[in-house]
Amino acid sequence: MAGTREPRTETDAQSIAFRVNGRAVVVSSSPLQRLSRVLREELLLTGTKVGCDAGDCGACTVLLDGDPVCACLVATGQVEGCEITTVEGLADTNVGGRLQQAFLTHGAAQCGACTPGMLVAATALLERNAAPHENEVMDAIGGVLCRCTGYRKIIAAILDAAVKKAGVEETASAAPTAISPEAGAAVGKRLVRLDGKQKVDGSEIFGADETPAKALAVRAIRSPYHRVRFHFGDLAAFVRDHPGIEAVFTAKDVPGKNCYGVISKFADQPVFAEREARHRGEAVAAVVGEAATVEALEVADFPVSWEELPSLKDIDAALAKGARLIHEKRPGNILVRGRVVQGDVDKALDAADVVVDAEYETGFIEHAYIEPEAGFARRVGDQIEIQACTQSPYMDRSDIAAILGIAPERVRIIPTAVGGGFGSKLDLSVQPFLAVAAWHLGKPVRMVYSRTESIVSTTKRHPARMRLRGGCTKEGRLLALDFAADFNTGAYSSWGPTVSARVPVHASGPYYVPHYRASTRAVHTNLVPAGAFRGFGVPQAAIAQEQLYDELADRVGMDRLEFRILNALDDHTPTVTGQVLGEGVGIRACLEALRPKWKAARREAAKFNSKTAGALRRGVGVAGMWYGCGNTSLPNPSTVRIGLKRDGRIALHQGAVDIGQGSNTIVTQICADALGAPIERFDLLSGDTSITPDCGKTSASRQTLVTGKAAQMAGEKLRRAILKLAGACDCATLLFNDDGITVCDGDKSHVLALGDLPLDEHGYVITSEATFDPPTSPLDENGQGVPYAVFGFGAHMAEIEVDTELGTVRVSKVTAAHDVGRAINPTLIEGQIEGGVAQGLGMALMEEFFPGKGENLHDYLIPSAGDIPPVESILIEDPSPIGPFGAKGIGEQAVIPTAPAILNALHDAIGIRVRKIPATPDRVRAAILAAQKERGMENVRG
Ligand code: FES
Ligand code: FES
Repeated sequence: MAGTREPRTETDAQSIAFRVNGRAVVVSSSPLQRLSRVLREELLLTGTKVGCDAGDCGACTVLLDGDPVCACLVATGQVEGCEITTVEGLADTNVGGRLQQAFLTHGAAQCGACTPGMLVAATALLERNAAPHENEVMDAIGGVLCRCTGYRKIIAAILDAAVKKAGVEETASAAPTAISPEAGAAVGKRLVRLDGKQKVDGSEIFGADETPAKALAVRAIRSPYHRVRFHFGDLAAFVRDHPGIEAVFTAKDVPGKNCYGVISKFADQPVFAEREARHRGEAVAAVVGEAATVEALEVADFPVSWEELPSLKDIDAALAKGARLIHEKRPGNILVRGRVVQGDVDKALDAADVVVDAEYETGFIEHAYIEPEAGFARRVGDQIEIQACTQSPYMDRSDIAAILGIAPERVRIIPTAVGGGFGSKLDLSVQPFLAVAAWHLGKPVRMVYSRTESIVSTTKRHPARMRLRGGCTKEGRLLALDFAADFNTGAYSSWGPTVSARVPVHASGPYYVPHYRASTRAVHTNLVPAGAFRGFGVPQAAIAQEQLYDELADRVGMDRLEFRILNALDDHTPTVTGQVLGEGVGIRACLEALRPKWKAARREAAKFNSKTAGALRRGVGVAGMWYGCGNTSLPNPSTVRIGLKRDGRIALHQGAVDIGQGSNTIVTQICADALGAPIERFDLLSGDTSITPDCGKTSASRQTLVTGKAAQMAGEKLRRAILKLAGACDCATLLFNDDGITVCDGDKSHVLALGDLPLDEHGYVITSEATFDPPTSPLDENGQGVPYAVFGFGAHMAEIEVDTELGTVRVSKVTAAHDVGRAINPTLIEGQIEGGVAQGLGMALMEEFFPGKGENLHDYLIPSAGDIPPVESILIEDPSPIGPFGAKGIGEQAVIPTAPAILNALHDAIGIRVRKIPATPDRVRAAILAAQKERGMENVRG
């Protein structure tokens, strides 16, 4: 279960000589050892990433005598006498250096986990083809997966690097972004991400990239069945009989509580299962020892016997009368329910001119970030330190403290760079095993999940089963929506309560629905826990609600976009929770921005369809979205500290973990402008819990809003303190230099010599700290209240082509309009939109995870470069009165409308609705055949 690991073959090690990045090296290795392993662990070239060890992800791509290869599939013996180029060697080459710069200026690296592989593959292309066509670029990077960017900025960057060499003028698609703004003018600029350099030169440290000296390896023993009773044999004898194994830990070794969970009220997940495991992949024990021994261990040799038990694998089985309870204290296997009710739905539906019923179902979706979970831990006196990839350092700290039975102050969490998270790295993964092992052994320990281990044990997007009924007037005014959904939350709670609470608030979409009833249930099954995945259930709900609205529009004979514009929320109409936002409601502007493109695309599609007699049909679809930033009606604070140093530099302690979305840059831009200092003066201190205050978790599109606002407040506060010290007025400008600050106040200037000033308890001349918690209110028993202080809004339009004989769908373009309040950094926002579109496309057409099957990136398909169409982003700026400089979140927002827009386009093209998502070719084809049978038609058309 912990993944297949190749045996270490140190006994047959040989000297193998080759060249790496122009340098001659000799390694002592088995000739069968993977080249990726030798590069990373023997030569410490950790820029080469390992995402799968199976040739599926391309993260490990290196050049072998100039040709791109997956280093995980190359035996080291094969490279004897060869030249290897890794990402660390690219800067020394003309093409590689240009590509690195182009990746930076185009924002082509987000988390950066795929970036080395992308750069190497692109270098190989440009070395043999100086001016490739876009299709050739897509072919060249087709084997390297990226889960963040949506590929379009990567393609633009490669084309940019190429055209420069060919001496051709830059194209519009290759607009560079590098700008160094003046003091006070950073907000709104396309600033290159501040942590970008290390992502393109291979020096970024991800979870698996650092190993303390003499670290022991930790390997979990996991349930092979969905539900199993287990019995250990003689564990002491196992350790005694296996030289190199130091210890085995089980539930009885957990010093504190063998229980954790992201929402403490619902915490239910054990570090190690006790007697019975509730899902396939659940850990029952951990083996700790020398890396080679632990990795070579055959799981079958571990002394445990498994007794497979009947399991509940779907919502119906779990809800069936008399079904066995997965958690004793959760009757009916229902973890939690959610509810929002407004008006009189039944009466309104009776009075409606048109009523439509619909049902939709979605499956598990795997996060498929390129970096599997990894990290290390060490005990330092009576403290534990854990360095790992995480989205939530302070939450990790609390849970690890409870697991070890120690005070949170004795736990230090050091987040590494995160190679994609999308919600799953909010939950603990390697951390509890590392903590228990390091605590008991007093030695450093390291754990790196295999791809299979990552897939079987970490959270997924909730499968949803949704039933809805909506009604409107014959003029197209929405009257009522009745929405009910069950979410398969798996064996443990994770973020099930959040999904259940958030979906009823959002299932109306960004429209005025006067009569509304939405109810949800999170249902336990014996499957892998479902948790947070970009949108917390709202993308699933949007698939249902946005298709229903298309059906209503069709029934009243109204244009589908105009139907949405007619019903769009505005500043003064109440939401389904009775909240009136007052200002900053940009949904109508988003929809109206699509109008000319919608009309043109619809005309084009109709023309194509009328002229084409073959199997191809085109369609255009639209969908709207809204998304509340931050926690639902719960406290949600971030605290930012900044310190003025004697050398005139500013330390920015901001604990928002940048998982690729760009918070390191965005928060700095906001703080810089609030203070009135140039970006270059800032020294960024990241989310290490020993040096930064709590900025909360990176989720729910909250970091720009919440941490950004705290950074703005801290910047303004520091500015006021400096002005006070100089006796200057509010309108004075600050000039920072290495000796101090010159405060210019009209025609007077005052020099603050910082070197002469005393230092405070933080070691700064002046420290400024600010906390921001967005104002919300609890929801009442009908879900009425103020769940979020700020919403983001958006609408996507998808243009597609369907092959009715094959059932395949090709998306040819997505136009995405988003109200972001204020575009703090347009390049980073576009990157979020393009990445969201790619994930939405995967959700609509490709991605479904079946627990127990296809637990790898070969069978679980995510979009590759060739699947993603051009994406046109339209940024609407309807400022939030609360957000920093008016800004709203964009991370979750970007993924929500893509899938329903594509599914609406599918209906537009061929007149069918696929009720079970994703609309894979077999399902599309089956729906076509069923429709043909029903309608007695040869060809199904919209
Ligand atoms: S790690 Fe080699 S292809 Fe994924
Ligand atoms: S930037 Fe490509 S995987 Fe994150």
